[in-house]
Amino acid sequence: MSDFPYADRLAIHYQLPESGLDRESVHDALTLMARAEDPVWESGQCSGTMYCGDHDHYDFVNKAFSYFSHVNALQRDMCPSATKFEAEIIAMTLDLLGGTPGPDTRPAGLVTSGGSASIAHAVLAYRESHPDVAHPVMIKPETAHPAFSKAGHLFGVTMRVAPVDPVTTQVDLDWVAAHIDADTVALIGSATNYGYGTIDPIGELGALALDHGIGLHVDACLGGFILPFGRELGYDIAPFDLRVPGVTSISADTHKYGYALKGTSVLCVADRALRNAQYFYQSDWSGGKYCSPGMDGSRSGGLLTATWAVIVLRHDRGLRSEPTSPPTRRRPCRTCPVDDVAGGSGGSPPRPRRRSPGGDGRARRGRNRCSRHRPSRGCRNLPTSASAPRSPWR
Ligand SMILES: Cc1ncc(COP(=O)(O)O)c(C=O)c1O
Repeated sequence: MSDFPYADRLAIHYQLPESGLDRESVHDALTLMARAEDPVWESGQCSGTMYCGDHDHYDFVNKAFSYFSHVNALQRDMCPSATKFEAEIIAMTLDLLGGTPGPDTRPAGLVTSGGSASIAHAVLAYRESHPDVAHPVMIKPETAHPAFSKAGHLFGVTMRVAPVDPVTTQVDLDWVAAHIDADTVALIGSATNYGYGTIDPIGELGALALDHGIGLHVDACLGGFILPFGRELGYDIAPFDLRVPGVTSISADTHKYGYALKGTSVLCVADRALRNAQYFYQSDWSGGKYCSPGMDGSRSGGLLTATWAVIVLRHDRGLRSEPTSPPTRRRPCRTCPVDDVAGGSGGSPPRPRRRSPGGDGRARRGRNRCSRHRPSRGCRNLPTSASAPRSPWR
């Protein structure tokens, strides 16, 4: 067996094909791979990679993506919709995560390309907002995502690693308090962390940050679009977002439990001065004045559209709504003889099978299957179980 994926079934392209493939052959190859891989997560048993798992939902998102999939959002006079989408994604996320103006502060945000990117932009922002600190340090719980170490390496910010309590897996607050010094620009807490799905004591970290006049970034890449709804539903979840005094920034991934496509995440800040610290400007370029909010250049029009569409779709009718009434129709399962097939919401008449946009003929997974063979609708990603030189930025 070859180590190269699909070497037994598909040609390997080491160079551009002599003559281009026809569209049908390309679709055939894609269909083959999707048919092989989808059933892996459709079993409902995966610890990452998938967050939603509902093909109907992805049909909607793919359609939304297609309206502006061809747009490289850069010159915003050509694509004002991208500015609307981006601004509203940020505003809605800030609203969800408690970003409200204070007497001297204006909340703001940044749409990035994923969790690691939101974290990297936060680290860059804390470095840039402390030009007086030659060797900036952030204190991160051992359980915080490796993206912090990656960003620290890239931007010359030392990550001082705090131990966690072996029972609660929450960061050791005494250790953090004892290791804050004049170089410390910010603390880090997770809500939730990836490894355990637990939440650090954000309130206490916020108090420490306030006492020392430093920042606190909350990594809610995983929890940002699910914990607020858990709180609304009455689960015992301690406050973790911008409502907590001392929290100065929070990252939340729209592409995870926001159920959008991979490629967008939101970095929210309590005050726009922190966001502005990592803006990039070059006014003396032969190509014109160039300015970008962060490290990315042009944005994907399709991803901004799809993300906006999913948020406005879901967060009233979706996560905040009552569960739909139990299905009433019963048909035999396609996969086994059990007769407990859920036939759609509320016993609506059967809908004809639809082909996916690529024409691959995949029926919507889950229809005509019993509860054992029906894919999970929510494939959980929560498992149970000396500073480098500064990189020039401005
Ligand atoms: C808590 C947390 N933070 C950050 C990330 C990084 O996100 P991404 O893979 O989108 O860069 C992840 C990814 O799973 C995560 O779970």
